[in-house]
Amino acid sequence: MSILLHRVSDITLSEITAGPSVLDGAEALSRVYDFGKHPYFSWMRAPTTRIEEFRRSQAPYLHFVEHFSRALTAVLARVPTVERRLATVYENVVEEHGHGDVESTHRGTFAGYLRAIGLRDEEAARECPIRIAVAYQSLLDFCLVNPAEMGAAATGIVEYTHIKISTLIAQSIHERFWGDLDAQRHYRLHAEIDADHAVSLFALCEEGWKNPASARRIAYAMAYGVHVWWSLFDAMCPAEILLPSATDGIRPLLGGSGARAPLAPAPGDRRPCNLPVRMQHEGGAWQAGIATSLGPFGLVLGGVRPPPLDAAITVSIDGLFSAPLPIPGRVRSPAGEHGGFCVEFVLDNEARHAEVRNAVRALLATERTMTHGSGDDALHVV
Ligand SMILES: [Fe+2]
Repeated sequence: MSILLHRVSDITLSEITAGPSVLDGAEALSRVYDFGKHPYFSWMRAPTTRIEEFRRSQAPYLHFVEHFSRALTAVLARVPTVERRLATVYENVVEEHGHGDVESTHRGTFAGYLRAIGLRDEEAARECPIRIAVAYQSLLDFCLVNPAEMGAAATGIVEYTHIKISTLIAQSIHERFWGDLDAQRHYRLHAEIDADHAVSLFALCEEGWKNPASARRIAYAMAYGVHVWWSLFDAMCPAEILLPSATDGIRPLLGGSGARAPLAPAPGDRRPCNLPVRMQHEGGAWQAGIATSLGPFGLVLGGVRPPPLDAAITVSIDGLFSAPLPIPGRVRSPAGEHGGFCVEFVLDNEARHAEVRNAVRALLATERTMTHGSGDDALHVV
């Protein structure tokens, strides 16, 4: 079992307050607390991460969603005038509470997302683990005992960085075939609305930002909020996690490979992918196979003799490039019941990665248009 500890670098209050606006401070912090590099999201994007594991890791987050609205309500409670409340955090609180409709609350939409990625009711009903409770409790307590501008800074940075997190998750679900459009709704919505939420919370900090002493208090609150938030995703990491490599950020740990399970059979309602692929292992003859699933980082390959786990192979996908261009890969899972195994593309520079990613996306888009005729919202399933 390997646990990856990741520590962000330190940032001083002077560095956070160096810019003229609160948004500059948020931007400085989000460069240090870059959630795109957080181990949880590196793990989420890794080709070997299966939906079962991802779903398990997301389930307890439901509790954070339920309680985050209480921290926002605490900020609201500390704004003295009704005009200021209405002009800033009020709309966010109302929206969190679904404008009075329990299904439309953020807890409701998140529960819908969990159901869409296959969570069973009994899993959803589990009590909140302390590793999650400590995050929402810290934010709630902070907002209750500090002035509104500090609570707004602590929750505002959560909203601000959640824009990127929502985009990352929605994109991953889209590309990895992890659920239908319902599964994407919650995060797609947040990728859009959290910018407004962050701006209206930061509006409560603008006056204080003009004075150096209160700007430092606001910067402290923002740093507090983002660190609690970062730690929450640390706490959501599964016990066994992939170590991002220096080259591609998603190469799994090679030790502990015995713990890797075969791929789960695809759900019955998933449209099968059926792309001719050729595979070569250890300079042997090319074998013809079929990709039953394809994404920017790898594919599920069937119909060939499975090489050993972690074997270096070469694959060539028909129609991916104008001329046959073999892609180096590595076997990342044992063969499942139906013979399919997971292959990660192993490319040693970002330009090659981008070339393969773009070619895969273009191929999927063509297949999707041909087979389903729908627009951007269509699943990347061929
Ligand atoms: Fe929000």
